[in-house]
Amino acid sequence: MNTPASTGSSTAVIAGIGACLPPRVVDNDTVIARGGLRTDDTWIRDRTGIAHRRHAEPGTSTGDLAVGAGRAALTSAGDLRPDMLLLATSTPDQPCPATAPAVAHRLGLGTIPAFDLVAVCSGFLYGLATATALIRGTACATALVIGADTYTTIVDPTDRETAPIFGDGAGAVLLRPGTPDEPGAVIATDLGADGSGNDLITVPHGGSRHPQHLPPADPAARHFRMQGRTVYAHAVRHMTRSANSALHHAGWATDTVRAFVGHQANQRILDSVADRLGIAPAHRFGNIRDLGNTAAASIPLVLADPAVHQTVAPGARSLLTAFGGGLTWASVALHWPSAAPRTEAPPSDLLRTPDLSRSHPWTASTTTW
Ligand code: UT7
Repeated sequence: MNTPASTGSSTAVIAGIGACLPPRVVDNDTVIARGGLRTDDTWIRDRTGIAHRRHAEPGTSTGDLAVGAGRAALTSAGDLRPDMLLLATSTPDQPCPATAPAVAHRLGLGTIPAFDLVAVCSGFLYGLATATALIRGTACATALVIGADTYTTIVDPTDRETAPIFGDGAGAVLLRPGTPDEPGAVIATDLGADGSGNDLITVPHGGSRHPQHLPPADPAARHFRMQGRTVYAHAVRHMTRSANSALHHAGWATDTVRAFVGHQANQRILDSVADRLGIAPAHRFGNIRDLGNTAAASIPLVLADPAVHQTVAPGARSLLTAFGGGLTWASVALHWPSAAPRTEAPPSDLLRTPDLSRSHPWTASTTTW
């Protein structure tokens, strides 16, 4: 699905950006020791680009992180309030009901429509594209789009192919109607999926096909599984193709892009995609070294990164692209937002009042790569 460049007077504009990260920083050696993994810090850094990630404390849920990120985005946006909430996640608080209504309730948003969207690591960009279409179509005026995941709750800590890669976190944007010439304006989107690869990234047990109440044939089927090498090839191909499609529909030449943000899956994947697109290193942004792969949260966490925010000029032509389980992929061409990102710590309880004073960088080492 493609949306062409916004030629009319109206599109969705990012008016607020928020992030929520668990405070616990976990280095590679700690992940290795915890799982008894046959690997080392050098392998993980060289093959993935990851040095640290955040792990949520036991008891901290995806919904908790989503509330923190949503609250931070609302603070960033000032007085604006959303009339719809989309939560992109593949690690919901429970199988039923969706996590989004409880997040909306905890944010004090009343009875606005709120729903979960499952496109795994492409989920945030699926949500951004969906909310943009709803705003352009006047189904809603403002929307809060949150990407949140706690992969530590589904990854097998003894699996060396996945345990070092994933971290926990949440990021969010508040969208309002605006014009295509504004900073933060969404210009074009590209979405796609290929279900023939649905078994390449999966938690096999616990759904309607293999119900939770029946014992799995293989106990490992309760955990997240990824066929890394195959996924790697799909990720490079589909992100490159999708990003080019979004650029085409925006009517932008690649060499006019000033900020490229790919899903933070693997530094080598990001380098390959950016090289194939022809994006110069100075225009590539990410934080995989510090946060690892945070699934649906990874792209909004780059948008919300204070160091990135200080580097990219508001209004700069920007290209976001993601790939994930499903298989799914998504890309968005937009003007870099001017909204100042905010960060919140995970809320400690349902009644916690907003702490509007918190706004601190988490990645002093964040760089262009
Ligand atoms: O977020 C959704 C999308 N996710 C992705 O796009 C992730 C895609 N995949 C990847 O990032 C990479 O494929 C991995 C990081 C998972 C693996 O890296 P790789 O360079 O693709 O390794 P590989 O799968 O080609 O495996 C090479 C070797 C294998 O051993 P053999 O079969 O050659 O003996 C693996 O068993 O590396 C082995 N290996 C490891 N060795 C040490 C895999 N993981 C590790 C490890 N430490 N942690």
